Amino acid sequence: MTADAEIVAGLRDAGLVGEGDVVLEPLTGGVSCDVWKVETPTGPIVVKRPLEQLRVAAEWHAPVERGQSEVRWLRRARGVDARIAPEVLAELPVGHAFAMRFVPGCPVWKDELIAGRVDVDFAGAVGRSIAAVHAATANSAADRDAFPTDAMFRALRVDPFLLFVAQKDAELAPAIYALADDLTSRKVALVHGDVSPKNILVSAEGPVFLDAECAVYGDPAFDLAFCTTHLLLKAVWLDDERLGQSAAALVEAYRAGIDWEEPAGLLLRAGKLTAALLLARVEGKSPAPYLTDPDHRRIVRDQARALLRAPTPLDALVSHWQRTLP
Ligand SMILES: Nc1ncnc2c1ncn2[C@@H]1O[C@H](COP(=O)(O)OP(=O)(O)O)[C@@H](O)[C@H]1O
Ligand SMILES: [Mg+2]
Repeated sequence: MTADAEIVAGLRDAGLVGEGDVVLEPLTGGVSCDVWKVETPTGPIVVKRPLEQLRVAAEWHAPVERGQSEVRWLRRARGVDARIAPEVLAELPVGHAFAMRFVPGCPVWKDELIAGRVDVDFAGAVGRSIAAVHAATANSAADRDAFPTDAMFRALRVDPFLLFVAQKDAELAPAIYALADDLTSRKVALVHGDVSPKNILVSAEGPVFLDAECAVYGDPAFDLAFCTTHLLLKAVWLDDERLGQSAAALVEAYRAGIDWEEPAGLLLRAGKLTAALLLARVEGKSPAPYLTDPDHRRIVRDQARALLRAPTPLDALVSHWQRTLP
């Protein structure tokens, strides 16, 4: 059986499609998975199957078990608020593939931002939603036990984004290594691990989060930092003030939802992580593909390096962020 035929057989066994022809229509965007849309008698669904080898320039392997982490995160997030994640319909017995409900008529947030449709309130809703998942799972032994995925998080996040950069930068290495140690040792709440505008759908009811393959029980500051980093990079790329305002709205709404620890501590950790992630997006293994202009790269690199030398809470970092050369 071909891989596609195995997927179709899995969908039949799960009762999602009948005996007739089944068309797997590839959806664009994925670098780490095959993602298809499939019409079924009960409406369109999405089937996702993790790849062994990610489609990025650098050699980058990742265990396919990450498909299972994603399913667990989607289910847990829906338990917190059913509007913020697609419903998982079945896990298929093919390389940790799974089927979920297709969320119709919702653009990807990244495409909206690039098209100049910047809704600052939506960024706030993103912050509120991630904080809600963190608050619901904070200090929970059950959630911690359900996500024993530290090795995956290390391989997909800590190594490529933090350690790879530290190895190339002797001056900043001690700060980045310390940050990586702190990140991996902190067990606070359920982290999504890839909160990027390309993994968020814009629905009428607010954000819908996809792509939770890196989910781990860890430091919630990571999700906040990861998403803020994307907005700050895009603010430089597009030189759009509203993207800086979106980052501020994200952080402010998130902060209002922190009820499991002192916000000041979390915002300082998130500020340090954001500095490191910004640097990783110009120096790391997974550079932001749109930051090709040397001036843009310099704006990001100089600020990120200064912030790693002088750690700054995330709210202050965002309000001082410069989109252009001084
Ligand atoms: N449940 C869904 N409803 C609608 N579109 C989806 C759904 N799941 C994925 N997509 C679309 O497919 C794209 C890739 O999905 P994603 O889970 O992010 O995979 P990858 O890990 O390959 O990035 C998304 O950006 C989105 O456009
Ligand atoms: Mg994705």
